[in-house]
Amino acid sequence: MTTANKVHAQWSSRMGFVLAATGSAVGLGNIWKFPYMVGDSGGAAFVLIYLACIFLIGLPILVGEWLLGRRGQKNPIHTMQQLAADNHRSRVWVLVGLGGVLAAFLILSFYSVIGGWSLAYIKDAVTGNFSGQDGDGIGAIFGGLLASPGLLIFWHSLFMLITIGIVARGVTGGLEAAARTLMPALGVLLVLLVIYGMTTGGFMDALAFMFKPDWSQLNGGIVLAALGHAFFTLSLGMGIMMAYGSYLGEDVSLLQSARTVVIMDTVIALAAGLAIFPIVFANGLDLGQGPGLIFVTLPVAFGNITAGWLVGVAFFVLLTFAAIASAISLLEPVVEFVEERTPLSRMGATLVSGVAAWALGILALLSFNVLSDFTLLGLGIFDLLDTLTSKFLLPLTGLGVILFVAWCLDKEQVRQELGLDIYDFSLWNLIARYIAPIGVLVVFFANL
Ligand code: PHE
Ligand code: NA
Repeated sequence: MTTANKVHAQWSSRMGFVLAATGSAVGLGNIWKFPYMVGDSGGAAFVLIYLACIFLIGLPILVGEWLLGRRGQKNPIHTMQQLAADNHRSRVWVLVGLGGVLAAFLILSFYSVIGGWSLAYIKDAVTGNFSGQDGDGIGAIFGGLLASPGLLIFWHSLFMLITIGIVARGVTGGLEAAARTLMPALGVLLVLLVIYGMTTGGFMDALAFMFKPDWSQLNGGIVLAALGHAFFTLSLGMGIMMAYGSYLGEDVSLLQSARTVVIMDTVIALAAGLAIFPIVFANGLDLGQGPGLIFVTLPVAFGNITAGWLVGVAFFVLLTFAAIASAISLLEPVVEFVEERTPLSRMGATLVSGVAAWALGILALLSFNVLSDFTLLGLGIFDLLDTLTSKFLLPLTGLGVILFVAWCLDKEQVRQELGLDIYDFSLWNLIARYIAPIGVLVVFFANL
């Protein structure tokens, strides 16, 4: 992806665009974060609220970001600047772009730590460490990793180095081609793991846990978590999707593309849950153990099926790949920001941004061991970074996007841009003007 103000190239096809957006969307958020959030928040009630947030709030905001990007034809900050000026609106809208860059930077720092866990697990799978292990054995392997700052730093550094290397060389285009084959492969592996789940005896419990709601479990904090994760998983509120939209031709249907991306993202997250929870129930593991969940469950399957080590290697390679694709999309806007405001070259800007995120990531990973007692606002550093972004920055910048699209742009132009007739457009308007923003506002302020 190139920098601002140049005359933009465009995606070669709708397919290329959808693949790139999916590459950013599908990642650790689906396979690592979604399942442990479901486990932490008591199951189905969270899942159903999350699905409502995805379709009523996430999807319109995704369309909104693409629409703004295609309209502005610039990077997110300049796009907001220009569209605000064109439509005689205040300059405060630029904050939406700035908040997005900050969020991307903060997320990258801890995302790389988890990407590092995935790399570490490739090594464990290759060396056969999972074979024959039960839940306790796998738990010990994961515990050993978490307790070792040296190991965590090593794998986090390797993950960040790969990300920096790809972004610095500007070869991100090649990733689309890779995504074309690797993403379906990841899907197939997840399906295999769901089938394995069916043989464990824990599958019915898992289904009930994920889809039979116990509404008494629900509280405002859980709803905010679901909303925040809807933004996180669709890569919203960071200007990333806005940047993609700026490369988009007029002939591509925003609504259709958004539906494709959202459905793929959702299916992968739900499949991850259906692969993981049967193992949790069958082995009597702890549902609410937080970020370690996939790392102590899936290897039980890899350790106990024929050629499981190979399946394990394939799984963590694909997961790492999906994580790198997302990490690249997180680093990109930060690099662009730095490149534009400093005399640094692209290479220099990538190094500075990447190394800064890497350093912050080290603080985050130390909160799993030596700094585990250190808290700010009652949260460890890792949790603080996660909370600040998913529950605070992303909902606010996402809200900015949808308010701007729905209230500040010319309605008739938006209708044409979406290719809707008057009837369908009134539904869009209802959602974009009222349902989505009021939903975000209510959830957000109810939690303050
Ligand atoms: N959407 C990615 C995921 O689910 C994470 C991500 C967030 C990527 C924000 C880019 C921007 O893993
Ligand atoms: Na996602």
